[in-house]
Amino acid sequence: MSVLAVSNLAKRYRRGGEPFAAVDDVSFEIEQAETLALAGPSGSGKSTIARLVLRLIGPDAGRIDFEGHDFLALSGAALRARRARLQMVFQDPLAAFNPRATVARVLDDPLRMHNIASRTERPRHIAALLQRVGLDAGLAARAIHEISGGQRQRVAIARAIATRPSLIVLDEAVSALDVSVRGQILELLLDLQRQERIAYLFISHDLGVIRAIAHRVVILDAGRVAESGDARTVIANPQSAIGKALVAATPRLIRNRP
Ligand SMILES: Nc1ncnc2c1ncn2[C@@H]1O[C@H](COP(=O)(O)OP(=O)(O)OP(=O)(O)O)[C@@H](O)[C@H]1O
Ligand SMILES: [Mg+2]
Repeated sequence: MSVLAVSNLAKRYRRGGEPFAAVDDVSFEIEQAETLALAGPSGSGKSTIARLVLRLIGPDAGRIDFEGHDFLALSGAALRARRARLQMVFQDPLAAFNPRATVARVLDDPLRMHNIASRTERPRHIAALLQRVGLDAGLAARAIHEISGGQRQRVAIARAIATRPSLIVLDEAVSALDVSVRGQILELLLDLQRQERIAYLFISHDLGVIRAIAHRVVILDAGRVAESGDARTVIANPQSAIGKALVAATPRLIRNRP
């Protein structure tokens, strides 16, 4: 059974009064411990798909099965319980969290909201989560705005794994980081996936990053799937016009790396 199955998903918006399809008949599946990347030019619908999968917005058509359940049909306690298993990491943790909140507070929220640990157990849980993502336990008392961008993204990942998810949606999660920090965060994600069998829906416009982390890739063009397949195969030999254009725009160094 796949962790996530998206079928014939569609979302329309209006542009200059005219309706247009931001997401148009998109289908894909993600297995346990698998990384599926969504690639495509700006405006191709990647973030809209992320928001649909997270149920931050509703679709005009289509179906989303998460852990074998019709995700769009869930409500109340069943939805709350299932939501704990589906987490997210966005590009800018400064925008996602209250910048003045402490790291401990940011990590305490999911533990409290999903009844994962009692009040007395939570500090120990928070220390373990920080250790899990390679951060010093002493960071717990610091404010989000005081720590570095790389540390903040590690906190965002710690928060995401706090509820033991089966799937994490990452929308340009490493795009704002400089190259060396980006590499470290990708290593951390690979490590967590190996150890906890987490699946990733990994959104990026960077084929070099996708090649490093994803098993499979779906390339979008104007809301539609242009092509999909094994990430290395597609990047080495794209078939669609948009796939060819994206690869051509990627520096040679990254494309030819073994
Ligand atoms: N709330 C909205 N109202 C109207 N149009 C929207 C809305 N959200 C997104 N769009 C439009 O839908 C299309 C897809 O947007 P989306 O943000 O999903 O693209 P993207 O692939 O994530 O792009 P980027 O790489 O720039 O992040 C774009 O044309 C965008 O302008
Ligand atoms: Mg986007």
